[in-house]
Amino acid sequence: MTDKPRVWISRPTFPGIIARLEPHFEVTAEAEERKFSSSELAAKLAGQDAAIVGLKDRIGPAEIGQATRLRIVANLGVGYDNLDLDALSAAGIAASNTADVLNESVADYAWALMLGAARRMNAAERWLRAGHWHATEFRQWLGTDVRGHTLGILGMGRIGQAIARRAVGFGMPVIYHNRSPLPEADERACDARYVDKSQLLRESDFLILVLPLTPQTRHAIGAPELAQMKPTAMLVNVARGGIVDDAALATALREKRLAGAALDVFEREPAVHPGLLELDNVVLSPHIASASQETRRAMTALAVDNVLALFGHGPHAGRPPTILNPNVLA
Ligand code: DGY
Repeated sequence: MTDKPRVWISRPTFPGIIARLEPHFEVTAEAEERKFSSSELAAKLAGQDAAIVGLKDRIGPAEIGQATRLRIVANLGVGYDNLDLDALSAAGIAASNTADVLNESVADYAWALMLGAARRMNAAERWLRAGHWHATEFRQWLGTDVRGHTLGILGMGRIGQAIARRAVGFGMPVIYHNRSPLPEADERACDARYVDKSQLLRESDFLILVLPLTPQTRHAIGAPELAQMKPTAMLVNVARGGIVDDAALATALREKRLAGAALDVFEREPAVHPGLLELDNVVLSPHIASASQETRRAMTALAVDNVLALFGHGPHAGRPPTILNPNVLA
């Protein structure tokens, strides 16, 4: 036993990056990816000084109850709806996320999903693999162009802005809705126009969701919102499951009240609503918008930087660079 502080890493990541902790910490890294129950998490966190966790680790009062030494929970994700920030702050535990390092990857992926849905790529590939391609027909597999169609963005943080900037090359006008409009210079930089939510729903040909999941944004897109959208519109969600009412979406798609959807996140993931699985006008992917080599490494490095910084090491010593509750430092 050493007297170094202890850090627990809840999932396999990148050993070379985690190794930066070893001079300062006794490191326990899980060798296998799995979902821990609340009591397992509580037992894992007890006796640790720091933890690097992922989105499926839900951490609140029950999980930190025995973690009397815990000083920081570094989340491997920009979204942190898995952390009870109030409970962590009340216990004096810092929390951090991986803001910014994934903006461009997630923006790329949102575009990939949107283009895939517009051009029916996944459905066409399934058809080809099933051996149905016996002749090429001129009017088969017609999708829709994105050029000239309106791109709507709900949630205009840094990922939303990265998505908007790409629209220039695709010839799409951009409208957005956010809790508050962007400062003028930022709005100009991404050539986007602020509208209210109802106008966004009514005017978007493609609507991309990039807002965080909070009690206020749960089911921000449900039956009433879907009813306001054009029947030719497509919905893309790279934010969080729960923002969309998946059952209402499946119904709208089945009844052709919405032309298509592309979803990377789901209300009960990894379970996907069966109504979505049976539809051909939906592109589905398993929550991988930030899953590029470069970005997942950068996310891991940032989580490590946060832990090191809290314990006074590294370039950010004393000030974890993406701390979510800086009040605990006081
Ligand atoms: C995030 O960062 O919140 C993503 O959803 C995880 O990849």
